[in-house]
Amino acid sequence: MRVRRLISLLSLLSFGLLLVTSIVLYIVPHGRVAYWVDWTLWGLSKTQWQNLHINLGFLFLLSVFFHLYYNWNSITHYFKNKLNRLIIFTKEFNVALLIILLVSGGTYFMVPPFSTIIDFSEVIKEKASLKYGNPPYGHAELSSLKVLCQRLGLDLKQVLNNLKKRNIKFSGPQDTILEIARINNLTPKQVYEIAIDYDKKKAGLSAFIPLGIGKLTLKEFCQQFGLNLQDVVLVLEKNGYVVKANTTLKEIAASRNQTPSDLYKLLQQNFN
Ligand code: HEM
Repeated sequence: MRVRRLISLLSLLSFGLLLVTSIVLYIVPHGRVAYWVDWTLWGLSKTQWQNLHINLGFLFLLSVFFHLYYNWNSITHYFKNKLNRLIIFTKEFNVALLIILLVSGGTYFMVPPFSTIIDFSEVIKEKASLKYGNPPYGHAELSSLKVLCQRLGLDLKQVLNNLKKRNIKFSGPQDTILEIARINNLTPKQVYEIAIDYDKKKAGLSAFIPLGIGKLTLKEFCQQFGLNLQDVVLVLEKNGYVVKANTTLKEIAASRNQTPSDLYKLLQQNFN
């Protein structure tokens, strides 16, 4: 077996697979959403895609290292002039360095098109948050029923009753949402909705403030919470907020030096 060939093929294959896992990680929903709804793609969870990406990444790096080792003569050739003297800053090296500096600087200062690449990933991830829904707080699936009730101001007895009514298997208030989900073959989100007796048709603004609302545009927010956009704009303008097309809740709140949570509380008072 020719080791040099093996290394080149390993670099190529691991690069190809690394690319696939990179695209998946670029579009994968935020962790809080992925774990809340048991998100999978081709049977693999977000964590499994991350693990694959990391180990294929290391395999790729290792094979590139040996690829360089076996092709070192060609590499050093790139750094020699016509007189066979070693020079580092060849024309090609300078251009390569310039491109690297441009991409790094552009990304650091978030200048288009580098910022566009980052923002586009965020747009896809936010779309997924809208589609699947955010948990009431980060990693709520790891909370026991007792802690969940404490954090959201829910009545523990009522929550336990709601679960029993729907024949959900669990041993007591110390069980986490995730444990109950696993035993009952449900997602943490489904367990939560049963626990709070959530009715989509009657759903309005919940008593607690959901995560990630600041990033939603007003239109997306109204869609997610079943509110009439026109009515919401009227209430906000009446209260002195500046509302423009496609502005996010964070921007609208900032127009009165407030936070998205303040804005949410105002809408709660008006629409619940
Ligand atoms: C083809 C080159 C590569 C591309 C395009 C790429 C792309 C990505 C993307 C899109 C993410 C997700 C970023 C996010 O969370 O928004 C990511 C995460 C990551 N990448 Fe890469 N990657 C590449 C190579 C590598 C290599 C060689 C390694 C080294 C082992 C590596 C290690 C990681 C790690 C540790 C993370 C964080 C994973 C996590 O979220 O837990 N990547 N990469």
